[in-house]
Amino acid sequence: MRPERIQRVPCGQARPLGEQNAKAFCQANLNIQAVSQFSSACSKTYSDQSCSTTPSPLASHGESRLHVRSKLPETKPDQIRESFVTTSLTGKVVWLTGASSGIGKALAYALANEGAHVVLTARREQELLDVKARCALPDDHLVVPLDLLQSETFEPAVHRVLEHFGRIDVLINNAGISSRGDVVDTGMTVFQHVMGLNYFAAVQLTKLVLPSMIERKSGQVVTISSLLGKFGASGRSAYCSSKHAIIGFCDSLRAEVYKHGIAVTVVCPGFVRTNASYNALEADGTPHGKLDKDIRNGIPSDVCARRIVKAIKAMKREVYIGKESYAVYLNRFLPGLFSRLVRHRRIK
Ligand SMILES: NC(=O)c1ccc[n+]([C@@H]2O[C@H](COP(=O)([O-])OP(=O)(O)OC[C@H]3O[C@@H](n4cnc5c(N)ncnc54)[C@H](OP(=O)(O)O)[C@@H]3O)[C@@H](O)[C@H]2O)c1
Repeated sequence: MRPERIQRVPCGQARPLGEQNAKAFCQANLNIQAVSQFSSACSKTYSDQSCSTTPSPLASHGESRLHVRSKLPETKPDQIRESFVTTSLTGKVVWLTGASSGIGKALAYALANEGAHVVLTARREQELLDVKARCALPDDHLVVPLDLLQSETFEPAVHRVLEHFGRIDVLINNAGISSRGDVVDTGMTVFQHVMGLNYFAAVQLTKLVLPSMIERKSGQVVTISSLLGKFGASGRSAYCSSKHAIIGFCDSLRAEVYKHGIAVTVVCPGFVRTNASYNALEADGTPHGKLDKDIRNGIPSDVCARRIVKAIKAMKREVYIGKESYAVYLNRFLPGLFSRLVRHRRIK
């Protein structure tokens, strides 16, 4: 076995590839010595990788958790999916936007229960402080208020988080806003507002967090898109466009950062019972201000949060949540029929 062949095995994939290749060599009746040399070289690569966890600047409480985490192998999305291993969130620093209500709030509690250090971001500071106080181990978490439509404030916020925790393991782009109204009636300011929050803010925050993840060769970017990021619906053009756009961004990002050991997860929920419809913008830019029937009949936010945590731990590429998920497959396999259905069924 040429040594350079072994070195090219991507870090984090070393063990599964090593085992798989060793088996293949045996079947090809290669001599036993070559197999054992290969296995020991691979297991060396594997153990080097598992020791490479960055030392933590966290408080002693977090450090002890990180010590346990550091014994786990480094992970990569495809490796995880192939081997059905899930990662732990214990001791990880997770930056969550939109943490003051709905899915984000439920997610903050779920992440805290997993032992993560959660950075809680949204505009309403008092709401965030309340969420922090209700999280498991409140002192483990940090409130960083931010208006995600004020892009000049992002960089100081990233520095603040990095100074406080020393690293960001997982970024969750969750903050978002919906829209109501047909294309012909919807003002450009509504398109700009919705794209600004659902797309440009997520892109910019990701860009600012990415360099530190690349440097550490580890991290995960999670974005809450929507099933409406997979197909269109009448009366939701601004929202659907922004959610489609962010999936395209994430798919490209995933391809680029794989080599750096960074995973990219897209979450597409169906209807979830939150304040989303109250906050949605009408065609003229005013808040919709009422609870829509479909949202009222949606799944509870804590159920959605549990599914998201599961997807993060399994480093899924893309996950669909809720009973409406079938629509993704209907659109994919029977697009003509789906198009007729969407024409006749207006989301309420
Ligand atoms: N509910 C659903 O049926 C559903 C379905 C699919 C996908 N989603 C997606 O899930 C995510 C969460 O939505 P949700 O249902 O939980 O809605 P929500 O209850 O209205 O929560 C929206 C969150 O975004 C934050 N936010 C809004 N504007 C902001 C700004 N300018 N700067 C910073 N933060 C801002 C809000 O906090 P502040 O007001 O404190 O700033 C709030 O925490 C969104 O991306 C949404 O598109 C929701």
